Amino acid sequence: MKKIKKVGILTSGGDCPGLNAVIRGFVKAATRQYGIECVGIHDGFKGLVTMQTEPLDDKSVSGLLTMGGTILGTAREKPNKMMINGEKRDMTETIMTNIKTMGLDALICLGGGGTQKNAYYLMKQGVPVVTLPKTIDNDVANTDITFGFDTAMQIATDAIDRLHSTASSHQRVMVVEIMGHNAGWLTLGAGVSGGADVILIPEIPYDMDAIAKALKERHSRGKRFSIVAVAEGAISLNDAEHPEEMLAKQEKLLRKLDEAKLPYIKEPLANKIARKIELATGLETRVTTLGHVQRGGIPTATDRFLSTRLGVTAAQCVSEGILNVMISVKGNRCEPVPLETVAGQKKRVPLDHPWVETARLCGISFGD
Ligand code: F6P
Repeated sequence: MKKIKKVGILTSGGDCPGLNAVIRGFVKAATRQYGIECVGIHDGFKGLVTMQTEPLDDKSVSGLLTMGGTILGTAREKPNKMMINGEKRDMTETIMTNIKTMGLDALICLGGGGTQKNAYYLMKQGVPVVTLPKTIDNDVANTDITFGFDTAMQIATDAIDRLHSTASSHQRVMVVEIMGHNAGWLTLGAGVSGGADVILIPEIPYDMDAIAKALKERHSRGKRFSIVAVAEGAISLNDAEHPEEMLAKQEKLLRKLDEAKLPYIKEPLANKIARKIELATGLETRVTTLGHVQRGGIPTATDRFLSTRLGVTAAQCVSEGILNVMISVKGNRCEPVPLETVAGQKKRVPLDHPWVETARLCGISFGD
């Protein structure tokens, strides 16, 4: 087995709190404990093409523990489908040559589902990789949790807390849209922690009549306000049953924007739901879309601790020649799992998950 002497580190996909803390943990352990040279690759997999890099050592990672975002920059680019001068190109060959030129023995990839897949792709081309599970969505397979999730859940919970007093003062329904892509972890976690009355997640298609019924029933019990937490990826029963109609609508919209040479900016789902709620219940309704606020700023102590543990475990694995793995969280432990058990998989909320049961037993409606 070849000893790993030099590694490249990159961050890819959407950023999240904790990325810098992982970089710091990894570099500190790798350089000081194991004598491994570290190179930071800029802007995700793109940096393997441009070869924009920087040396990382104990000094350069100083002060990173609390810093949000990623000092390396990130991008949503795939090695085999990369936007180069306005067109998508397969850059695999260039990447393989550049990895050799830079003298990298392995790549450390910090990212969510897409990154795990891209890292797996490079692994199949012969690049030794170690990945770390990053995302506020918590939807990476084969790990109990991802770093960044705790911070985002805290931010969304704080927002719901703040909505309570203004909702109550005005006797309103507050619809708050929470990120999470096609998984409901963030909305469910923040919804339960913030005391939402209705929680809509992608895994449980909603019915507007059921939502209206739950809100009216709450109102009739003398409650002055209601909070509806909506996951950005939530889906109506009708759309779940007729996905082709939904797709056709989306394609039509994209064509129209393309003809008008306008960029696509996603309309918050919460707007549509709020309009329907006000129509169906007669209750005054307002919308809050948290958006990228959930991804910015300093990580919580829990995320800093987890990120540091993940970073040092990755360095330990590299030094022991444990490669082609993702460092996963299993109970109280950080441990390597084969990358093929992660790549291409998605961890969504199982319908019988204890978090769902807790919400239901608390009287929260899922609009089903
Ligand atoms: O995966 C993290 C995430 O924040 C999702 O929750 C969200 O759907 C997406 O990224 C937003 O991506 P972007 O920052 O590219 O708009």
